[in-house]
Amino acid sequence: MKINGSTRPCLADWPGKDRREPPFSAACYLQQSALAKTIREAIGNALQGKCNLRVLDLGCGKKPYYPYLAPVCQSYIGVDVRHTIVGPDCFAVGENLPFRADSFDVVLCTQVLPYVNQPWRVVDEVGRVLRTQGVLILSAPGVLPYQEDYWRFTHQGLIRILNFYGLQVARVLPNGGVFRCFFSLFAFFIGALSGGQRLVKPLKSVAIVVNNMIGLLLEWLAGGKGEWWCSAGYTLVATKTHPHTPDIAREPVDQL
Ligand SMILES: C[S@@+](CC[C@H](N)C(=O)[O-])C[C@H]1O[C@@H](n2cnc3c(N)ncnc32)[C@H](O)[C@@H]1O
Repeated sequence: MKINGSTRPCLADWPGKDRREPPFSAACYLQQSALAKTIREAIGNALQGKCNLRVLDLGCGKKPYYPYLAPVCQSYIGVDVRHTIVGPDCFAVGENLPFRADSFDVVLCTQVLPYVNQPWRVVDEVGRVLRTQGVLILSAPGVLPYQEDYWRFTHQGLIRILNFYGLQVARVLPNGGVFRCFFSLFAFFIGALSGGQRLVKPLKSVAIVVNNMIGLLLEWLAGGKGEWWCSAGYTLVATKTHPHTPDIAREPVDQL
């Protein structure tokens, strides 16, 4: 199969390896490796024994987690607002998806909510296009530096939005605890220090490696403590338990 005029890569070389297996010397290592682990775990757990699934990757980017889903999917459609090496298959905003109700068995939506204008509308659309008993696997950042985006979330906030739109949360997986989070922020800070000079660049790499080692060690010693207090983000698994109710027909939220 051809993508953008070239041959589709095999799963081992699938784009987005920097997200699935970030190098230890990368500033994003602590955050990204924990995220990849929880997404993989959530997929493996929620879709165990299933096959021939119709999957929607909403805000797909390079579809970095496609290799995790490839064994169980019959079709895999990526939607995004911008072009990448693997697509998307369909240009659309998550707030207004061009699909009929009940079109998908699984929706994957990783690290997209911070970038959309109206995250709650995206969740509403997910509730519409998922079939009843369909599964949403969603990840969103908790404590992360600003990345030209708009929103940050707590696990409780994500649970509230999902529940409000008829998606019952079955699992919440924190992407690491307080030490991973703290040293992840510090790694981003080191990475962002200005200067690409000959000396500064190798020094930054060494500092990030040392930082990442300390972060992992402290996280291990602390046994993942503080994951509900301060985490780089959360991965949630939710099921659509009821037929979708259009947003407009819902009861207004109580005003405080
Ligand atoms: C941080 S990237 C995440 C990409 C991919 N899901 C991943 O985990 O690597 C955020 C993605 O959301 C897309 N995006 C931003 N606004 C969007 C919108 N309103 N609807 C759909 N996708 C959107 C961006 O183009 C980008 O590809």
